[in-house]
Amino acid sequence: MTVEPKIYGAILAGGSGTRMNSPVPKQFLMLGDAPVFIHCLRTFLKDSRIRQVWVGSNGDWLELARQQIGEYIGADERLRLCQGGADREGTMLNVLNAIRENNRTTDSDIVLIHDSVRPFVTLRIIGDVIAAMENCDACNTVVPVNDTVVRSADGRTVSDMPLRSELFAGQSPQGFRIHKLLDAYERLSPEQRARLTETTKICYFSDIPIHLVRGEFFNFKITTPYDLEAANFALEYIKKMQE
Ligand code: CTP
Repeated sequence: MTVEPKIYGAILAGGSGTRMNSPVPKQFLMLGDAPVFIHCLRTFLKDSRIRQVWVGSNGDWLELARQQIGEYIGADERLRLCQGGADREGTMLNVLNAIRENNRTTDSDIVLIHDSVRPFVTLRIIGDVIAAMENCDACNTVVPVNDTVVRSADGRTVSDMPLRSELFAGQSPQGFRIHKLLDAYERLSPEQRARLTETTKICYFSDIPIHLVRGEFFNFKITTPYDLEAANFALEYIKKMQE
């Protein structure tokens, strides 16, 4: 008998947003009618297959997240909050452990990990990640790279020009089998853990194949003040297209 995997969402909202240069972390700044992270939460909640959507945030900001959820979404029993970590992977681990502690998770259960600062994720992308997880244990949302990418060992001259057709930029959500990801993390060496810059690297280091799901260029990450301005323009444009 095959067991239907349970699906969880993990929204990473524990960052401090240094590059945004704002006293309030960028995920809590207003974008159109709601704070940045509320936009992706609303989209995740629209997919009824997702059993719970967890938000991981830090210290005082956890209370702000709670307030903003109350104000912009209201009571929703599928929404849960937990403490974040010192870096993105720390928040991811805290959220996964909270999911495991609060549910009877099985080996087939999956999580969709999403950056709270990618407000324009769509139901199509979420659906494609869930569909991809039927045939793999890990997947990443990506877009092809349009610019020529060069490698430079010294930052002054080109040392390599990788083939553009083989290059993709990573986005989120990323899909993982929860138990497999946590087990793989446990087995990483301290050196590998120190080299983690993002979650799919845990699978890469552990030889777990990572499937690719097509993202969207507009599913960009808000990193700088320029990105927030671009996001406001994008929101206006999306609204106009829907009229
Ligand atoms: N993130 C997190 N916990 C951390 C650090 C980052 O949940 N301790 C989340 C951020 O909230 C964001 C995503 O990871 O949704 C990507 O983070 P990024 O923008 O790269 O980092 P920030 O710390 O938010 O920003 P900066 O690097 O400019 O300080």
